[in-house]
Amino acid sequence: MTETVEERARVLRQRLAAELEERGSLVAAWRKPFEEVPRHVFVPEVWAGPDRLVTAADPEWLELVYADDVLVTQLTEGVATSSSTAPGLMAAMLGALDVQEGHRVLEVATGTGYNAALLAAFVGAGNVTSVEVDPRLARLAAERLRGAGYPVTVVTGDGRAGHPAGAPYDRLIATCGLPAVPRDWIAQVRPGGIIVCPIGSGTVRLILSAGGEARGHFLPTPSYFMGVRANKDDTGSARYPGEPGDPVEGTSSLAAEALFCTDAFLFLLSLALPGLVLASETDEDGNLTGARLWTAEGSWAHAEGHAVRQSGPRRLWSVAERVHELYEGQGRPERQRFGLRVTAEGQELWLDEPGNVVGL
Ligand SMILES: C[S@@+](CC[C@H](N)C(=O)[O-])C[C@H]1O[C@@H](n2cnc3c(N)ncnc32)[C@H](O)[C@@H]1O
Repeated sequence: MTETVEERARVLRQRLAAELEERGSLVAAWRKPFEEVPRHVFVPEVWAGPDRLVTAADPEWLELVYADDVLVTQLTEGVATSSSTAPGLMAAMLGALDVQEGHRVLEVATGTGYNAALLAAFVGAGNVTSVEVDPRLARLAAERLRGAGYPVTVVTGDGRAGHPAGAPYDRLIATCGLPAVPRDWIAQVRPGGIIVCPIGSGTVRLILSAGGEARGHFLPTPSYFMGVRANKDDTGSARYPGEPGDPVEGTSSLAAEALFCTDAFLFLLSLALPGLVLASETDEDGNLTGARLWTAEGSWAHAEGHAVRQSGPRRLWSVAERVHELYEGQGRPERQRFGLRVTAEGQELWLDEPGNVVGL
């Protein structure tokens, strides 16, 4: 007898959940939702490359859907503008959120709706609100959530404003990259509540205090999320701007290859330069030879070995040199030693404990 799609999907789901648990990404409390919620319902099509759309008719579709990989689900002018986050990362973030049955949860960045479905399976029907900036994605996700039996309130809007109508929330989770924790979120989560959110290339876990302050450490997991968008047509600064302006040229003590020295350094750099995009250059043998850096406001830097050109409102390479010095000077700390303190005035980065502020 041939196996149906649903039967095959169930087997693959169980295999994935077991793998994630074995690897330590999935805590026991989340095993059941990961085994039950059908990711394939939320990801009927995947961009496996810029010109290759894999659909349910393709034999490899289900295997792709139930691998621990990020799945690109929308391209806007060739730039990925929506995806389903890798299940291992989602599991780590959901575990850190420490939700209980009956909690009221706000998710920012609905995307496919899969993460919202996992949350709904855990906390119960009617307790999850999810905000998505792209109206088409919000509509598709709401339909799929309803169809799969996980009713979630999906709101179209800019998730940086949260959703005050549903506040206060016990938990808030975001799955798009942000430069800073929006203040509206602090006002919408109750004291003692938890926010788990990507900042730069890290994910921070914040606990709210009664005085309107939030603090907490970064998770050890690297997290490279697509950046927050102002509207559905915004593709951010995904492409290198070329090298406009009148560049300053010089020699740097930091070689281009050293920029990619460790993931923890790149994390620190992403905090110093919100919205930074990086690309490496390699020779024919695959050795690193150069680096390009750019940001949305028009700054760029291009390093080849020790030779650097840079232009724009911020001298990106000069910032990279300074952050690298700080990183080395502190003995190359891992990302989970850093934390944030967020107040109405802004956010402060610290190392090991809230008093030990790091100025980037
Ligand atoms: C990585 S995907 C989210 C994955 C999603 N949680 C899932 O399970 O499929 C990032 C999403 O963030 C959305 N987004 C970007 N900026 C946003 C904003 N300002 N407010 C709400 N959603 C936003 C994008 O449109 C995209 O769908």
